[in-house]
Amino acid sequence: MSLLSVRDLRVEFDTRDGLVRALNGVTFELDKGLVLALLGESGSGKSVTLRAILGLHPPSHTRISGEVLLKDRDVNRLDEVERRAIRGRVASLVFQEPITALDPVYTIGDQIVETLVRHRGLAPADARRRARELIDLVQVPAPERMLRSYPHEISGGMRQRGMIAIALACEPELLLADEPTTALDVTVQAQILWLLRDLQRRLGLAVVFVTHDLGVAAEIADEAAVMYAGRIVEQAPIGELFARPAHPYTEGLMQATVRRGQRGIPLVPIPGAPPNLAALPAGCAFAARCRLVREECRTTLPPLYQVRDGHVARCHLVPERFGASPIPKAASVA
Ligand SMILES: Nc1ncnc2c1ncn2[C@@H]1O[C@H](COP(=O)(O)OP(=O)(O)OP(=O)(O)O)[C@@H](O)[C@H]1O
Ligand code: SF4
Ligand SMILES: [Mg+2]
Repeated sequence: MSLLSVRDLRVEFDTRDGLVRALNGVTFELDKGLVLALLGESGSGKSVTLRAILGLHPPSHTRISGEVLLKDRDVNRLDEVERRAIRGRVASLVFQEPITALDPVYTIGDQIVETLVRHRGLAPADARRRARELIDLVQVPAPERMLRSYPHEISGGMRQRGMIAIALACEPELLLADEPTTALDVTVQAQILWLLRDLQRRLGLAVVFVTHDLGVAAEIADEAAVMYAGRIVEQAPIGELFARPAHPYTEGLMQATVRRGQRGIPLVPIPGAPPNLAALPAGCAFAARCRLVREECRTTLPPLYQVRDGHVARCHLVPERFGASPIPKAASVA
């Protein structure tokens, strides 16, 4: 049994502009202790995927189908009380900008204590002791001051450490990290990334780590899934993805990104923009931007092909470029 199993997940939003098809059949699994990086441009569906895993989309204007199995329980079939029990205890979310997630009128210490009292049923004195342990866990240089501080009194990096402490308070097995380093300056980014990697290993956490930065993914992930227009278009172990990108979109992302040891190689942006999710094309969603596009790409959705063991890509050209064959739908990862 995988810790997390997402199967054919579809999320659509009813908007004034029509039905926005944000996720169009996302499938992946994650075992205990492993890190999956979700990669892709803005609007590809990374955050919608994380929110769907925790059942956070408001039902009033969202249509959801498919399965999100967290420890074999389908989040889409739980009521709100059961979902709240899962949040924090099984899976926790760390946001890009902790200032929006933290409450400005309570100190960091009070917010950790409140989480422990409400969700773990600890007595206030025990919760305060545990809050101090959690602050030590996230390696804060002045722990007592941190516990007494309001969110606006500390730096972005310290706020993110506070947010991580709250996320870990209920000892989740899965951490969902939505660009947790993007809003920070470069040195602090590296420190938070190092902290997350250290915690992940020490606590044996599974992590879904959302980023648009391939360098960050290479630092932290075991596996990567590349998203485009609400689908996973390629998935592979991280080293394999870098060594043998099989989808033209992944190749484009790599050419558009600075990579270590590649000074002097010009960056090539991917031309054009992602498609309108309220009017998705019939065929490959990347067709309008793809340098290798063919006629069939515009009319037929490419199936998922196995490039190698554990490496799949959704592109019509995979068989002739890599000698691969389609994988059966039941075993597909996207
Ligand atoms: N509540 C909503 N109502 C309508 N559309 C939404 C809603 N939430 C997300 N979307 C749309 O779904 C698509 C995917 O959004 P998502 O936030 O997952 O992108 P993302 O990959 O996380 O991008 P970014 O890198 O900018 O954070 C976007 O087009 C977004 O506008
Ligand atoms: S299916 Fe066609 S358009 Fe899509 S990525 Fe492959 S070659 Fe490009
Ligand atoms: Mg996002």
